Amino acid sequence: GQHRSNDLRTDNSPLQIFVKAKKKINDIFVEIDDYVQDAVGFMHSLRDDRDIVNTQEAETIESYVYKVHAIRDVLKRDHMKVAFFGRTSNGKSTVINAMLRDKILPSGIGHTTNCFLQVEGSDNGESYLITEGSTEKQPVQSVGQLGHALCKEKLCESHLVRIFWPREKCLLLRDDVVFVDSPGVDVTPNLDEWIDKHCLDADVFVLVANAESTLMVTEKNFFHKVSTKLSKPNIFILNNRWDASASEPEFFDQVRAQHQERAVDFLSKELKVYTPKDAEERVFFISAKETLQARLQEQRGQPAHNGALADGFQNRYFEFQDFERKFEECISKSAVKTKFEQHSQRGKHIAMEIRSTLDEILERTQKMRSSQLTVKKEVHDKLNFTEQQLMLLTQEMKDKIHRMVEDVEQRVSKALNE
Ligand code: GTP
Ligand code: MG
Repeated sequence: GQHRSNDLRTDNSPLQIFVKAKKKINDIFVEIDDYVQDAVGFMHSLRDDRDIVNTQEAETIESYVYKVHAIRDVLKRDHMKVAFFGRTSNGKSTVINAMLRDKILPSGIGHTTNCFLQVEGSDNGESYLITEGSTEKQPVQSVGQLGHALCKEKLCESHLVRIFWPREKCLLLRDDVVFVDSPGVDVTPNLDEWIDKHCLDADVFVLVANAESTLMVTEKNFFHKVSTKLSKPNIFILNNRWDASASEPEFFDQVRAQHQERAVDFLSKELKVYTPKDAEERVFFISAKETLQARLQEQRGQPAHNGALADGFQNRYFEFQDFERKFEECISKSAVKTKFEQHSQRGKHIAMEIRSTLDEILERTQKMRSSQLTVKKEVHDKLNFTEQQLMLLTQEMKDKIHRMVEDVEQRVSKALNE
């Protein structure tokens, strides 16, 4: 049934690369946290012995407590972010709805989306929205209501409304993918502000183009701007409304070849983000409206082709699924790299700093012992205690942490090479 097929899909979903890496790195930082706490406790137990541990050493180690907590907070909230752009009415909102398998975002003819809408999973099974600058949760039951809630607010187009949707309703949301829908790139002069506010932390960009026309200068310019701020953005180009091609079968191949060539040239020659060969893999011909309808049919137990808009449904449906698969691979690898690589370096750095401080203390106690031949018993015991503690801390913990941090690094690089 439904449940089982969901499970199967979960297991081979490329999104699991991110999900597993996130769990692992969060676990590791719990251990690093313990290690830092132990080291701080140890420093405190020797606080009165300035000869063994100096104030600065103690302060440095203590400062790691806050750093590790800050990193843990960020790691808990990390997600994969995909942002959709394109001209008004090309079908950006419809593509997102098709991926979410539900009519969540308002879509329609004319200029529909008038600010940034971010869809993300809610933890408590509730649906609600939060507008920028507010903390009030406004409940949302339906698209109609969402559209209404969005209209009644006077929203600036670069503002962000966060829509929280139950995780269990969509695997992409459950696996921490966050969708960002935007107003058409042709209706605003504030592209720079958009990019600074909404694009810098996106893992993947999707350009939703209109297969009935061609890539527009406004759309291209937007991505030129993005690529001046982000060195190699991951970009997919969807030629949407490909159902329209069915009405002109005599031009089908010719039109497809033209769109394909222009899109590949744009990605490889203009933006220089992919080789022409890799760029081929980033261009798709789809019908978002049809895919959404097909999926809604399937959920009602009807055959998918009941949602077909025109001849050639099956190919367009497969191509949409193919896009989703490549998208999932791309976003999870990119997010692991941009979100975890740096933190795993930090974790390693902290573990090594603590280790070298502990090594220095150990060395110092050993020197003290050899220089104080007639050392008092009391001091002697203290030194013994210190050494013992250090042995425990350094031997057990540092090696463990080290191994784990290396493990994460390996996973990161493995994920990237796969
Ligand atoms: P704005 O929010 O105004 O910028 O537009 P948008 O890019 O979000 O487009 P939206 O998803 O609202 O779609 C615009 C209209 O096109 C809607 O009426 C959709 O039903 C329709 N539409 C979207 N995708 C397709 C498609 O693949 N084929 C056809 N025939 N219609 C589509
Ligand atoms: Mg829209």
